[in-house]
Amino acid sequence: MDKFKIKGKKPLEGRVKVSGAKNAAVAAIPAGLLADDEVIIENLPMINDVFVYGDILKYMGAEVLFNNGVMKIKPNIHTIHHLPYELVKKIRASYYLLGVLLAKYGDAEIALPGGCNIGTRPIDQHIKGFQALGAKIEIDQGMIRVRAKELIGAPIYLDVVSVGATINIMLAASKAKGLTVIENAAKEPHIVDMANFINAMGGNVKGAGTDVIKIRGVEKLHGCTHTVIPDQVEAGTFMIATAATGGDVIIENVIPKHLDPITAKLIEAGVIVEENGDLIRVISEPPLNAVNIKTLPYPGFPTDLQQPITALLTTAKGTSIITETIWESRFKHVDELKRMGADINVEGRTAIIQGVEELSGAPVKATDLRAGAALITAGLIAQGETEISCIHYIDRGYEQIDKKLKGLGANIERISEADQKQKEGKTRGEIANWTKQEYVCLEAEAPGTPYS
Ligand code: EPZ
Repeated sequence: MDKFKIKGKKPLEGRVKVSGAKNAAVAAIPAGLLADDEVIIENLPMINDVFVYGDILKYMGAEVLFNNGVMKIKPNIHTIHHLPYELVKKIRASYYLLGVLLAKYGDAEIALPGGCNIGTRPIDQHIKGFQALGAKIEIDQGMIRVRAKELIGAPIYLDVVSVGATINIMLAASKAKGLTVIENAAKEPHIVDMANFINAMGGNVKGAGTDVIKIRGVEKLHGCTHTVIPDQVEAGTFMIATAATGGDVIIENVIPKHLDPITAKLIEAGVIVEENGDLIRVISEPPLNAVNIKTLPYPGFPTDLQQPITALLTTAKGTSIITETIWESRFKHVDELKRMGADINVEGRTAIIQGVEELSGAPVKATDLRAGAALITAGLIAQGETEISCIHYIDRGYEQIDKKLKGLGANIERISEADQKQKEGKTRGEIANWTKQEYVCLEAEAPGTPYS
């Protein structure tokens, strides 16, 4: 299992290009199956979640070619049942297959998606939407099956603002008879991206980006070419890392509007942020001011940037209070930050951060994707060397983050454990043994295989 080794205290400087949005990509790939002929999806990030989803579509029988961010999908699938846990457990967003297969075939059965390290991941609102459209739901032995002879459009009022449920109901309603109205819908940029994709296939979705989305079902959806939006979470991660290190970076291929909540918060902390077309410049001179943050659905402060900005606030002047309203246990990165000298107290969904002079490098472990981003940010500002293990989580959602950071002057190396042990003269057998016994990740997932 690889590690990152970071020597801190180097301000990030230069230009970096943001990749396509992970959370838009993992919805667009299954949505491509809605069409009756070939779909081309561009600007996909080269990350493990995308590789895994391509594997799943191939398992289902689709013809999938993926090369350099462009995926061509010929949706002639033969398998819509018994999508096994082994396959779907690798990716949280496998639940989008339910909405897609229900719309196209009136039937789908996949293993229930597991939870993850930020809290339970219920899908009761997805199920509420499918049932409103006329689907029958069976949950048995860890599998969920959704079936409907015919889907009829209906009004659906979401009990909670849910990105996944909003997208999944849009997918299912895209071919239902009549009008579906989703109220209390999520408004994230990837919701709008999905609506644009369905409309490009000949669908009829209106109101995405507001809390009322109207979907008029159509008989057929045809192939098209869709370009996924830039990743606002990746962009925000680089903005935070630049601010934390006292750097000066131009971040390219962004939609500044999508970054408004993080821009506003960084300016409040004393950072200079300049927008110019599809790029944003961040200039910072630490120490920064402590700020309070409350995560909320878009356009509130994004929960996915709560962990990285926590790392930045560990050395801000004063006391910062972070309230995580979306996930019940999204503070697993705090213990690791405290090993680096951070002064943070977590009480329920609130973290109280007392700014300290300096963090010190230490061996730490990523517990989930954005916790990994937080530890990278902390390593970049710490005195000395930080080793981050379990970085497969990070590779799920950030394309070549080490290469991009190196391009900004960071002292970061990706170390393969086997090579490292090899260098220390251990035999292959000893390495295998060492890796099995000593190396514990919370959830060692075998990433998908990149292929073209
Ligand atoms: C998406 O997860 C993202 N993942 C998450 O990003 C992100 O944190 C989250 O939206 C919020 O923005 C993908 O898009 C693949 P939700 P999702 O449904 O759709 C509750 C990352 O780091 N809820 O908007 O699963 C739920 O418990 C990941 O990129 C229900 O109660 O999130 C949570 O409290 C992590 N019932 C809240 O709603 C449901 O049926 C928001 O969840 C569904 C959700």
